Amino acid sequence: MHIVVLPLPLQGHVNICLAIAKMLVSQGCSFTFVLTQDLAGNVAQHQGIHFATVASHGSCFADSFDHSSCLSIMKSIRPGFEELLQKLLLSSEAGVSCIMADSYVTWSREVAAQFGVPRYVLYVSNAHTLAIALHVPSLVSQGLVHGGDPGILIDCIPGVLPLRARDLPQSVRLMPEFNKEMVKDMHKAAGAIFNTVEGWESNPLKTIKETLPVYPVGPSLLAPGFVESPSKEKPGVWAEDRSCLAWLDTLPPSSVLYVSFGSLATMSIDQMRELAEGLEASGQPFLWVVRSNIANSSVDDVLPQDFGERTRDRGLIIRWAPQLEVLAHAAVGGFLTHCGWNSIVENLCKACVPMLCWPHLGEQRLNARLLVDEWKAGIELVQDDDGWVKKEAVAKAVKELMRGEVGECLRDNALRLKETACLAWQEGGSSCRYLQSLIQDIKNLST
Ligand code: UDX
Repeated sequence: MHIVVLPLPLQGHVNICLAIAKMLVSQGCSFTFVLTQDLAGNVAQHQGIHFATVASHGSCFADSFDHSSCLSIMKSIRPGFEELLQKLLLSSEAGVSCIMADSYVTWSREVAAQFGVPRYVLYVSNAHTLAIALHVPSLVSQGLVHGGDPGILIDCIPGVLPLRARDLPQSVRLMPEFNKEMVKDMHKAAGAIFNTVEGWESNPLKTIKETLPVYPVGPSLLAPGFVESPSKEKPGVWAEDRSCLAWLDTLPPSSVLYVSFGSLATMSIDQMRELAEGLEASGQPFLWVVRSNIANSSVDDVLPQDFGERTRDRGLIIRWAPQLEVLAHAAVGGFLTHCGWNSIVENLCKACVPMLCWPHLGEQRLNARLLVDEWKAGIELVQDDDGWVKKEAVAKAVKELMRGEVGECLRDNALRLKETACLAWQEGGSSCRYLQSLIQDIKNLST
């Protein structure tokens, strides 16, 4: 089977879509994976996946993240994508069995219909997020989405844990019209594919199943036959700094806090300084990813004077990490995370270390609630009402996470989540079954 994958041109979205594609390669599928030039770099081919580049007007990485400009960049890809699909339909020996499109690419429905190709949606987050998205009309009619009290408790969403209004995904709070379009579009798809596990999210999955076919075929990292890409074959805009792996080799097991805010979150310079002072005060070794665009300033301008000098023996700051390898390193003992879905899943598969949650945007606040309230695999950093995190809060939470009994408890719970994921990939396990039915369903649709 030959499948065309179309992600939103953002690092986190590309990573989830690629993880699913790589897992399906081990089942004998081949892929054309569509990228914009900024993400494609020199990547051309990886084990059954051919990367095709399409033109776009601008890059989602040009400035700090803005959802609506990203969606308009996505729109600009459409003509190039249509041309590519046309070419593949005419020239590819295998034809095109189906399109797997990112849930944010709502025009993919029209294109799939126009070319008569089945379409699946790759849902770039978890089932909780989609269960909430499906419930938006009811939330809107109850006045819970727009301008309401952000502290109000919402416990009426089927399959979803009780949440404060402020913890709803941003797509729901800030873009309800787009959310409506996305949901309508999903209902016309052959099904929704998730990088999650039924045992992690059985309640929201049950709710979603009432309205559309679901395939929770994750975590792809633990799927039999899954092969990780070498550094130079990963699509991305930032080069991995692999020197951190040798640095980690010099540190004792479970001693290092890995600090990363994913690919989109930004922070004020003052907040970065406060975080730096908190990390220093914690006394814990740390590996901190400071992306070149996280504070739109150079690292030296951002950090407190002499910070590098003072923390030289136990702190390392890099621009972009080989995250999977960092998480798999024995020296890493805790993860200060923005709670992106990839990062959570990667930690549960690779490191299973306790998580210190500092959500920023998207559905990250919801993910933090899931980690803290339901799974009890993380604790949350205390924020003031205006979102400010004090250095004292950082130092205290890091100590608790890395040295206290609380950390041990969180680690045990994370390990249980990993066990659930491993079982899902054993014969007869849920991810195995969903994967087989996905493959069978694609075959049925494309013949
Ligand atoms: C956002 C959302 O928050 C996330 O939930 C959604 O599913 C995708 O978009 P993002 O900020 O990109 O995500 O975070 P995350 O989902 O964690 O993805 C970041 C990816 O970048 C991960 O795959 C991680 O391994 C990778 N990464 C991050 C690196 O390779 N190196 C780094 O230094 C940091």
